Amino acid sequence: MDVFVAGGSGFVGRSLCRVLVDQGHDVTAASRSPDPAELPAGVEPVAVDVTEPDLEAVVDGHDAVVNLVALPSHVQSRGRSHESVHADGTRHLVEASERTGVRRFVQLSGLGVESGVETAYFRAKRRAERVVRESSLEWVIYRPSVVFGDGCAFVAFLERLAPTPIIVLPGGGRTLLQPIWVEELTPLIADGLADDRHVGNAYEIGGPEALTLAEVVTRVRDGVVVPIPMFLTGALAALADPLPWIPLGRDQYRALSLENTTDDDALAAFDVDPESLRRFSADVPSEAEIRAGASDERATREGSAKQAVSANRERRASRDRPDRDPEVGP
Ligand SMILES: NC(=O)c1ccc[n+]([C@@H]2O[C@H](COP(=O)([O-])OP(=O)(O)OC[C@H]3O[C@@H](n4cnc5c(N)ncnc54)[C@H](OP(=O)(O)O)[C@@H]3O)[C@@H](O)[C@H]2O)c1
Repeated sequence: MDVFVAGGSGFVGRSLCRVLVDQGHDVTAASRSPDPAELPAGVEPVAVDVTEPDLEAVVDGHDAVVNLVALPSHVQSRGRSHESVHADGTRHLVEASERTGVRRFVQLSGLGVESGVETAYFRAKRRAERVVRESSLEWVIYRPSVVFGDGCAFVAFLERLAPTPIIVLPGGGRTLLQPIWVEELTPLIADGLADDRHVGNAYEIGGPEALTLAEVVTRVRDGVVVPIPMFLTGALAALADPLPWIPLGRDQYRALSLENTTDDDALAAFDVDPESLRRFSADVPSEAEIRAGASDERATREGSAKQAVSANRERRASRDRPDRDPEVGP
């Protein structure tokens, strides 16, 4: 299958591309500035901004599209907006897919989009889901809880949030999360591309345990949790709202009231036993460590990645050529 992974250079994208290549698919990873050396060998990079319409030229020739494009939920929405990246971006990808004969469309949404907690991120994700459901494509939607793994923004965010041994958390950090390991999420996404029984489903996906934010943070770093009252958090969030470099604004305050867990975990639909899944730990390299490692490997990997990409291109080109027997031709 030819798979177009929008957001393929991101945290979930790199893992999914690896799974798809291992399964023998031809994979294109699209983002605004993909670095071939950071992509798994064999993945073809393409530069595209999904906030621009008319994506037919880049989507054409693929059997399936996976939309992983993200403006992370903890990034405040000034400058780049959740509406343009998540909602308009999804619409552009869906329209291009419908016009070019893509069959299957897999959309990454998030747990809590239907929770009633109103943030710019959830509103845009909800609109994006609606566009996908109303399309003529074979769609599958995934709504994961937080995802952890190599290079995840989540652990880095928590480290930034709690840089001292005194960990000040809103309400003592009672918000519940159900972290899932990226390497166990992406095979489920690959399954949604390959298996027809997933078509028309929106899956809530969580990991093996529900943890409070305080438990999660103290697995990331040693320290003592000191609660900050919610009313004070609300007041600080309102003050910080216009300051995008502070990772706490009104939306983040609202999101603290969300239980990011599911009672309807769809793991059974993929024959996965929750108890078999990896439990949350911060024992994963940061984005910076991965980049440093990647640059060491770059020289050796670049050669093989280029070879695999050109083999993919050649395979696709030969498949696109009219299927004529030269002996019998007109
Ligand atoms: N990670 C989690 O904990 C989590 C939890 C629930 C749901 N999700 C969902 O899972 C999906 C993947 O998340 P992730 O953690 O992998 O995100 P990520 O690491 O931030 O990756 C986002 C990807 O989108 C690309 N991108 C951003 N803006 C773009 C644009 N305008 N046009 C084209 N590409 C663009 C980025 O590359 P460039 O910046 O180079 O363009 C990158 O490849 C998202 O839908 C997210 O909402 C993630």
